[in-house]
Amino acid sequence: MALLEIENLSVMFGSASRPLRALDGLDLCMEQGEVVGIVGESGSGKSTAGLALMGLIDYPGRVTARRMSFADRDLLMMPESERQTLRGKDIAMIFQDPLASLNPCFSIAYQLEETLRVHQAGTRAELRSQTLALLRLVEIPDAEQRLDAYPHQLSGGMCQRVMLAMAIACNPRLLIADEPTTALDVTVQAQMLELLTGLQKQRGMALLLITHDLGVVAQVAHRVVVMYAGQVMEQGRVPDIFDAPRHPYTQALLASLPEYNVGRKRLATIPGNVPSQHERPQGCVLHPRCSNAQEICRTLVPDPAEFPNALVRCHFPLDKTVGPCKQNLTA
Ligand SMILES: Nc1ncnc2c1ncn2[C@@H]1O[C@H](COP(=O)(O)OP(=O)(O)OP(=O)(O)O)[C@@H](O)[C@H]1O
Ligand SMILES: [Mg+2]
Repeated sequence: MALLEIENLSVMFGSASRPLRALDGLDLCMEQGEVVGIVGESGSGKSTAGLALMGLIDYPGRVTARRMSFADRDLLMMPESERQTLRGKDIAMIFQDPLASLNPCFSIAYQLEETLRVHQAGTRAELRSQTLALLRLVEIPDAEQRLDAYPHQLSGGMCQRVMLAMAIACNPRLLIADEPTTALDVTVQAQMLELLTGLQKQRGMALLLITHDLGVVAQVAHRVVVMYAGQVMEQGRVPDIFDAPRHPYTQALLASLPEYNVGRKRLATIPGNVPSQHERPQGCVLHPRCSNAQEICRTLVPDPAEFPNALVRCHFPLDKTVGPCKQNLTA
């Protein structure tokens, strides 16, 4: 039995007469202990997907799905009170902006204790000692002295560690980490990633890692979901997709990685931007940026096609034998 089973998950913003589709038909299945990366450029719907899984899309946002189950429990039918208990305890999230999620007015010990208190009983002293253990677990130096610090007294990397401590405080079975390393400098980024994956392995948690950085996904994920303008372009096992992507968009993302540009003066880039929700083109959402596009791409949205170990949403999937260095998007 899969831990998480999602079918056709969509999130709409905007009015009923003019809906804006931020997430468009996500299918996702995760096993216990599995690491899945969601990648895509800014605005592709990654955070929206994470928030929808947490049940945190607020009105006027609307969430629909054919199926949404966690450990065989139906998330769609679940009363809000039950969903609240699940949230934080069984499914936890590290949010994209750590400073927006840590309250500047309270010490980090207070905020961690409150997180623990929501899901378990205990005296103040017990909660405080658990808090200290958590800070040590996420390798905060001089944890004891840091207990009473306020968020603004900690570096970005330290705040990110506190967020991780908060997220894993109740031993979740699924951790959603939204850009946990993006705002950090390269060395701190590597430390954070190591800490995150170390804890994931130690605890056997499933980890949904949201990032725009394919390099991070290559390092830690078993499977990858490539998103563009709210839709999944390709998903499959990391080794397969990195060796031979079938979607021109994945291929272009890979081609823009420094590893594939050794010896070139400039990195390959993908021209253009993700269209806003108001400007989604007809047909395949990628077609204005894709040099492989044919007439059908301009008119008909491709359905995801199944390949061994991969799902690809493209009318003209690439030949498996073509490596990721060949750039196929318009220059
Ligand atoms: N509350 C909201 N109301 C209206 N539109 C929203 C809301 N939240 C997100 N969106 C829109 O949904 C789309 C997807 O946003 P989302 O934040 O999920 O992207 P993302 O992939 O996480 O981007 P980034 O890499 O910049 O974090 C964007 O067009 C965004 O403007
Ligand atoms: Mg985001």
